Amino acid sequence: MQSAHDKQRRIRRALLRWYDRRRRDLPWRRARNPYAIWIAETMLQQTQVKTVVPYYLRFLEAFPTIEALAKARRDKVLALWSGLGYYRRALNLQSAAKKIIRDHGGKLPRDWRALRALPGIGDYTAGALMSIVFRRRYPALDGNARRVITRLFSLATEHELRRIAAELVPPSHPGEFNQALMELGSTVCLPRNPLCPKCPVAACCAARKSGMVHRLLPSRGKSPARKIDWPLAVIQKNGRILLRRRPDSGILAGLWELPGGEKRNGESLKAALRRHLDGLGARVMAESVAGVIRHSITNRNIRAPVYRCRRRGKLPIANRQWRWLALSALERYPLSAMSRKALKLVIRP
Ligand code: ADE
Repeated sequence: MQSAHDKQRRIRRALLRWYDRRRRDLPWRRARNPYAIWIAETMLQQTQVKTVVPYYLRFLEAFPTIEALAKARRDKVLALWSGLGYYRRALNLQSAAKKIIRDHGGKLPRDWRALRALPGIGDYTAGALMSIVFRRRYPALDGNARRVITRLFSLATEHELRRIAAELVPPSHPGEFNQALMELGSTVCLPRNPLCPKCPVAACCAARKSGMVHRLLPSRGKSPARKIDWPLAVIQKNGRILLRRRPDSGILAGLWELPGGEKRNGESLKAALRRHLDGLGARVMAESVAGVIRHSITNRNIRAPVYRCRRRGKLPIANRQWRWLALSALERYPLSAMSRKALKLVIRP
């Protein structure tokens, strides 16, 4: 019979050795700079490694330091995030950078509570930074690490998971160990069809022993995605396109997008479009559908018919939320990913 202590030791050793040999060569793993690791870990929340890499490289090139991020124009920060989703992360990064300059002498604080108090830093990111950057013994539980530990110990509750995770992190190489757990979860201990024959800790796995690899903890607080219709309007004038900036709060805060919005129950698509055109409705005619795109964001599966529209005369656009933007400038603009997709339907290269 192996004791709990032995099991922990074997898991630590096998995982660290496996990680040392098999880890993917990712740009943030070469970084020694705490700021770069913070950016990577923030991008990696809810987003896959292969998507993150080019965004990470561009972001760090544009904003190589905390000061540069704190001082950057917000539109530029959002533009570099465009397509990664969960834009609140980008806005939080910039607010946190300003706070770090103001309250922490421009350096990431080395203290869990102080990190946790920064905008956008939750338990996961605080644990990842404490362990990876400061080499302190804190767990970092993303979805992958949660699944691995749940299986290894056949756990049934969140409380057990947190307790075991905290005990399991070794005092030496805690950052490598946490990354090994995440790496194992994303490459071997897969949600539906785990590749157990490739797993360095299969011999210690309680779920495998009891044939229960498919029993997992319920994912936290995620409700099923809601299906919505979101008609969009493409209104053109002399090679320019009419865009609208989203409000500073709420979903996709501050991004630019094609005008349009969610359809209500019982409403027609065109009626919804008119309602969302904020008073321009009567002067804009939806003429034809250029196509329909599908897009998923935070808990919503969106179906967006894209209407080519005609103007009746001049549009009374009085405020800074609206802008006629040259097609050539779209690439560099902080545009929502859904609008970018929609525009591809309309603009032929
Ligand atoms: N997921 C989030 N952060 C990660 C990391 N540092 N290594 C592997 N997977 C991760």
